[in-house]
Amino acid sequence: MSRFMECRVGDCNLAWEQSLTVVERVDKDVSSERGTTTLEGTDFDLDDAVMGPTGRPYREFPEPAPLDSHGPARVIAMVNQKGGVGKTTSTINLAAALAEYGRRVLLVDFDPQGALSAGLGANPHELDLTVYNVLMDRKVDIREAIQQTGVDGVDLLPANIDLSAAEVQLVNEVAREQVLDRALKSIEDDYDVVLIDCQPSLGLLTVNALTAAHGVIIPLICEFFALRAVALLVETIEKVQDRLNPRLQVDGVLATMFDARTLHSREVIARLVEAFGDKVFETVIKRSIKFADATVAAEPITSYAGNHTGADAYRSLARELILRGGAP
Ligand SMILES: Nc1ncnc2c1ncn2[C@@H]1O[C@H](COP(=O)(O)OP(=O)(O)O)[C@@H](O)[C@H]1O
Ligand SMILES: [Mg+2]
Repeated sequence: MSRFMECRVGDCNLAWEQSLTVVERVDKDVSSERGTTTLEGTDFDLDDAVMGPTGRPYREFPEPAPLDSHGPARVIAMVNQKGGVGKTTSTINLAAALAEYGRRVLLVDFDPQGALSAGLGANPHELDLTVYNVLMDRKVDIREAIQQTGVDGVDLLPANIDLSAAEVQLVNEVAREQVLDRALKSIEDDYDVVLIDCQPSLGLLTVNALTAAHGVIIPLICEFFALRAVALLVETIEKVQDRLNPRLQVDGVLATMFDARTLHSREVIARLVEAFGDKVFETVIKRSIKFADATVAAEPITSYAGNHTGADAYRSLARELILRGGAP
């Protein structure tokens, strides 16, 4: 297990108000220790290193070895209680990239808005069975609700507006936080990774996702207002770790909608690295209109514009996640 997997969120120093010079400082630290060093998994000659956007030397992550068998799945919740930060986009595209590397992926749409389902071409009005039925009716077999998608190796447990009722209805259930966890148990051997696309809230549905998960990925838009939400999210994750799911780990913080030309974006990443250290994925997702275009086409960017830098970024994220032990 890698070092970062053992580090809990509680170790993170959320010193948002500190100076904004971290990127410069990290640059200096690295350049003062000349010579060859090893970042987890790759060899480097620091004399030749080009700095990546997170202030660490830029590197390519190795192509993962193919899997010769599948399951049990590692469950990852994509969480941020802010909307519009790139959760759904990252869920679809990370899944498609993992599938390109031969991983079997189940996507769970856990947002009543159903953007993930729509983004994969499911019509929200034509769904017979959704994650709502799986949660609320023990007699419903999760396999009957799971659909194949147009992406090879990626299946979908869809959602629509019905799910908005679950939050209220679950309140009276016994072990109401464990309902999704229980439902996913029966399919864990069919997949290598389960990605749960959470709704923008820290309510009972998100707590269910965190209880079912081994890891959390926090997509975070590179804007200052977005940083403030993270402290509350970290608090929620710690509560779930303490009370419901001690195995839960933060797999990483993913900077999205990064614009290298703006000082603003670079400063936000500097703050993120200051607070989360190595937990910040070295892979950063740049802002591009191609993501919206791909959504309109109801496809992941990896197939809609396979050669685009956005597609490569999510492939890099998949390789980085696998290298870190966040996915098989
Ligand atoms: N890297 C990006 N660059 C530009 N636009 C993006 C990017 N990622 C997502 N978007 C767009 O931003 C909007 C919100 O993204 P979405 O993934 O739906 O966020 P969330 O699920 O957190 O609400 C969508 O219109 C999406 O197409
Ligand atoms: Mg979403």
